Parts: sequence; C-alpha cells; structure tokens
Amino acid sequence: MPRKLYIETYGCQMNVADSEVVVSILGDNGYTLTDNMENADLILVNTCSIRDNAEQRVWGRLDLFKHHKRENPGTMIGIIGCMAERLKEQLLETDRMVDIVAGPDSYRDLPRLVDEAWEGQKAVNVLLSREETYADIDPVRSDRNGVSSFVSIMRGCNNMCSYCVVPYVRGAERSRDPQTIINEVKELFSRGYREVTLLGQNVNSYSREDKDNKISFARLLEMTAATDPELRVRFSTSHPKDISDELLKVMAENDNICKHIHLPVQSGSSRILDLMNRKYDREWYMDRIRAIRKFLPSCSLSSDMITGFCTETEDDHRQTLSLMNWAKYDFAYMFKYSERPDTLAARKLEDDVPEEIKTRRLNEIIELQNRLSLESKRKDLGKTFEVLVEGFSKKSKNDLSGRTSQNKVVVFPSNGSKAGDYVKVKITDCTAATLLGEAICPDIRH
Ligand code: 5AD
Ligand code: SF4
Repeated sequence: MPRKLYIETYGCQMNVADSEVVVSILGDNGYTLTDNMENADLILVNTCSIRDNAEQRVWGRLDLFKHHKRENPGTMIGIIGCMAERLKEQLLETDRMVDIVAGPDSYRDLPRLVDEAWEGQKAVNVLLSREETYADIDPVRSDRNGVSSFVSIMRGCNNMCSYCVVPYVRGAERSRDPQTIINEVKELFSRGYREVTLLGQNVNSYSREDKDNKISFARLLEMTAATDPELRVRFSTSHPKDISDELLKVMAENDNICKHIHLPVQSGSSRILDLMNRKYDREWYMDRIRAIRKFLPSCSLSSDMITGFCTETEDDHRQTLSLMNWAKYDFAYMFKYSERPDTLAARKLEDDVPEEIKTRRLNEIIELQNRLSLESKRKDLGKTFEVLVEGFSKKSKNDLSGRTSQNKVVVFPSNGSKAGDYVKVKITDCTAATLLGEAICPDIRH
C-alpha cells in the first residue's frame, strides 16, 4: 500500500515551490499526498526562520503533531526547510518526537532519510550545496486554480544583509539551467497555466553561461515572455542594488511581462541602510524608482519594511515614512526587526530599540501604508484593465476574481468566462484590498 504524506508549508513562496519539489520526489518513491493529517504515515513541516515569530508558529504546530504521534506511534514526523537548517541536530535533542531533519538542499535524500526513520533511526541531512537547483524535478503543483504557478530559477543568497538569516539557511547563490526553466514554463502553458512567477531570493543576480552566451535575468525574462504572448510573466524578489535599466527596458518592450515590481527598501534612512549592509542608499533607491516611472509609467510598486532595526532613531523612522509617502507604494509588507542568531547584526550590533517603540513605529507605517494602498486603488476608478481570471470570488459564485498586470485583485460579476481567460474589466468601485468592476463584453479571450 502506498504510504501517505501530509505536508504543511510556512514562509515565503520559495518554500511553497520547494514543497512542490518534495512532493514530487516522495511521489516517485511511493508516497501519495493527503490533506488530512489524521491518516498520514509521514508528516512533514516545511519551515521558515526569517523572524522569531515564524519559528514560534512552527513550534506551536509541532506540539499538535507530537500529540497526534503519541496516539499514532507509527507516524513519522520530519522538519524540513530553513528551521531544519538553522537548528540541525538540536531539533532531535530538544524533541524526541521528531524523526527526520532535512535542510533545503537535501530533498533528493528524503526517500533514504525516511527509510532510515522507518527503521527506527533518527535521520538528518543538513548539507548545503553549491550546485543543487532541483532543475530536473517536475514539481507537483499545489496551486488551487491551475492558472498561476511559481517557477524557481535560483537558490540561495550572497547578499549578507546584516539582519538576515537566509544566506545561512539557504546557502550560496546558484542559478538554474535556463533551458530547464523554459521547458517547465512551456509545459505549464500546455497544461493551461497562463501565469508564471519566476522565483529567487534575488532574481536580478541570475546568471548562467549558455554555450557562448551569458544569460542575465533580463535575458531570461525575455526568453520566458517569448514562449507565448498569452502567458503572463511575473518575478520576485528584486534587490534595489541590481535592478538595471536593461531589465526595465525588457519589461517595457513585452506586454506580457507584468507591470509590477516588488522592490524591498527595508528603511528610508541611508544610515540604517548602511548598517543593514544593503549596499545602496536612499538616493540610489529613489533614482531606481524614477527610472521605473520613466520606463514603465503604469508599473505598480511594492516593498518590504523593517522597523526598529538596531540604533534606529525617530529621525530614521521619519525618513522611512517620508520615503513611503514619496514612493506611494501600492502595497507593502511591514515587520518589526527580529534579531536572528549568528547574523552580522546579532554579532556586531545591539538590538536596542525597545519593543513598545518598535510596535508604535510599526503601527505608524502600517497606518500610512493603508492610506497609500487605498489611494492606489482609488486612482484606478474609471480605468479599464485586462484581468486574468483565476476563478470564482471567495464570497460568491456569481462573481469572478482575477488580477491586473499590476497585481491588483479585481472582483466582477461573472460574464461566463472561466479560469485562465483574459477579460477587459472597467473599475467602478474599490475596497481597501480589492478593485470592483464590470466586464466589458463581448471581449473575452479564451
Ligand atoms: N527581522 C524582521 N524582518 C526581516 N526580514 C528579513 N529578516 C528580518 C528580520 N531579522 C524581512 C525583510 C525581507 C522580508 C522577506 O522579511 O523585510 O525583505
Ligand atoms: Fe523564511 Fe527566508 Fe527560508 Fe523563505 S528563505 S522560508 S523567508 S527563512
């Protein structure tokens, strides 16, 4: 009888893509996926270490799995991903209920690790690799709509931002063979997918030699867009220090490359950016945004912000607020600084902004961003956008939901189109999170 695998995924989109690789590898080794933990033989938790609260959430879930294992002693529990890499054997020492620990570069070894665990031994592989990209693995897609999928193009990170645990848990940067990326994208398109998001911790530093050519990220993006004009292409995440005019030009020249850039600034203060080891300052970042506005006037912009980083003063905080106001982000993810063991900041700087000040500053940037997000949606009222339909809206089967090129969610009364269709929608109203509109018939592109 095939064994049943239950997998839960925390953290970023890379982790979602990695879980798809894990399901594929174990699927080839006799495991079928179940979405019911109760009847699983193997429970895997793909974990995140980016902030302490991400790890706390995983500990909470582990308590539940352990309880389950006490009642079903035959069930194996594995911790995989970033927390597995960070804590290694410690996870087995602190927790005798955990059977398997596997870091992000050891997923090909999972069938062996799981066999060892069935034989009653604790199994660990946390080796990081300089080459592994899982290029030849055909991920088992976990998206629910069959329209939009992630495609991992590189792994690891060489940037060494002082606050960040990623280089330690995901290892050095390496780029995936471009031909395997293009093949995967074509395969997705032939199965009905109409959108791919090229994923990496820092996609702009993608680089591969192919025969005699050097393939940059801009070139890879162009090649992906050329697979079919009906395919939308997105990418994430970009580092401001590497976002080139060449890339912006490629985006401008290709209608099917979505006009949205996620460009995490982290702080508006050059002094803090220097302490964060971001390798750009406020002026450089503003210059890049000016370039985006010049080449791509319709482009939307989102960001990540960390508040309360070591030594951050009220003046630094005000500079973050003023930069946000200037950039007019359409969307942002905002976090309190969380010290991560062994990072540059943990070793060299004091986490000296009191918790209540971090909370107050975070609330201030959230409040500002809420206003900016609403402003950004209001600007779309009366305009018409091409929307890629993803399915019914969450609230009603009479309404369809999809996204604009700018990555804004649009809900509109069904005009009979289906997931994967492009529909022109005129925006008539908005909420804080969603645009509302009406399909302009009969312009349905199947
Ligand atoms: N504390 C808080 N936020 C962090 N991020 C990364 N490391 C930390 C940390 N130690 C945020 C950054 C990054 C996003 C993925 O998570 O804003 O862009
Ligand atoms: Fe979390 Fe970073 Fe790992 Fe993604 S790469 S799961 S954000 S620690």
